Amino acid sequence: MKSWNKKKILEIDKKHIWHPYTQMKDYENRDPLVIVAANGCKLKTIDGDELYDSISSWWTTLHGHLHPKLNQAIMEQLKLLDHVNFSGYTHPYAVEVVERLKNFLPHTLSRFFFSDNGSTAVEVALKMAFQFWQNRGVNSKTRFVCLENAYHGDTLGAVSVGGVDLFFELYKPLLFKSFKAPSPYCYRCEEKEGFTLDANHECNLRCLDGLEKILNEHHEEICAVIVEPRLQGAGGILVYPAAYLKKLREITEQFKVFLIFDEVATGFGRTGTMFAFEQAGIAPDIICLAKGLTGGYLPMALTVTTEEIYQAFYADYLEGKTFYHGHTYTANPICCAVAAASLKLFAEEEPLVKTKEAREYFHQLLLDTFSDKPYVGDIRYIGYVGAIELVRDKKTKEPFSEELRLGFNIYMKSLEKGVVLRPLGDVIYWFLPLCISKTEVEEILKISAEVIEEVLINL
Ligand SMILES: Cc1ncc(COP(=O)(O)O)c(C=O)c1O
Repeated sequence: MKSWNKKKILEIDKKHIWHPYTQMKDYENRDPLVIVAANGCKLKTIDGDELYDSISSWWTTLHGHLHPKLNQAIMEQLKLLDHVNFSGYTHPYAVEVVERLKNFLPHTLSRFFFSDNGSTAVEVALKMAFQFWQNRGVNSKTRFVCLENAYHGDTLGAVSVGGVDLFFELYKPLLFKSFKAPSPYCYRCEEKEGFTLDANHECNLRCLDGLEKILNEHHEEICAVIVEPRLQGAGGILVYPAAYLKKLREITEQFKVFLIFDEVATGFGRTGTMFAFEQAGIAPDIICLAKGLTGGYLPMALTVTTEEIYQAFYADYLEGKTFYHGHTYTANPICCAVAAASLKLFAEEEPLVKTKEAREYFHQLLLDTFSDKPYVGDIRYIGYVGAIELVRDKKTKEPFSEELRLGFNIYMKSLEKGVVLRPLGDVIYWFLPLCISKTEVEEILKISAEVIEEVLINL
């Protein structure tokens, strides 16, 4: 076993490392956890403590940490090819990813563009949709429609179609202007009472009226609509009905506007089906994939599109229709090897079938544990993702004061108790790996409930 010097690690970290989405001053008088190992659903600290990775390490881990078959795939790849640039060259490792992934996608999505992460997958999608119209000589279609509470990444293009003001407000002067349509935030819908539950409730989709109006009035300026299908993730784990997507597909077709599905978070089984959009029985024009693409091991992304879009770029070089986009590590062979191994696992071991019972148990246990709590305004879930929204007053849905930093305090307490909870404001959520068992679900929710009660009692 390797030996580490914890004091030294923390000293150098605090002196030099700037962590993402972190107010570094919060760590002035407390230390971040030092994680040195992981296995299955658990992380291990330098002190030897184990804790449940109940957010799948920022929504990436699928089959559990250090899965033997995924490890093996990387090891085998290291005997052959580490990296080569992907312009003018190809390799069997990228081809295998495409061959395997094709089997899980509608046949209309047939052109695959590799990049590095969720944000780049989105940047690529936006540029593709924009340039399609330019290449076709339709210069007016330059704008995008996105949703309030949308999150598509942190690069400036992705932020321009984002709708989480807390993260993005400051950067407004740097962004291009998008049309923002209302969010399908079922819990705060004026026409509905009670929990969001599984979002299959009867609903007349009033939240789509705003988007339809924008398309009706501005479709000649709009090249695409971008949404996270069935689940707005970072905007608060907002689960919404599949019928919304079905109608959205109809409207976008009616107004000749492309539909981009950002499945960076929802893809690869997390919502109970391989891709969330399948639940609506429709297909987008462009899909963005990352996070789970490599089983949660390495950064790689894909933007997959149709033959129609691809053909708008396919021309003699001097026509100037080339897609000028690419990243240094495009289709890195090691990333491809682990992605192919993960897709093989989906095909051969059917993890979604295997853990269906655990997934349903998770939903039921969420309801059993939190339904009667006076501070739980909403319970929502889909597949391996579940959330509760904490409120000061259940009747009026009044939120807790921001100054209480409820989410942050729950996060800190959860680490002491052996579960990673990383709330989004007052929304406490679980983003479980597909390998989760009933026993693990039980333990995670039991500890989570204790943590929440303890923090609320001490307010
Ligand atoms: C829906 C969605 N799109 C895009 C991204 C950005 O992905 P990345 O952090 O890999 O750039 C995220 C990240 O959480 C996401 O949830």
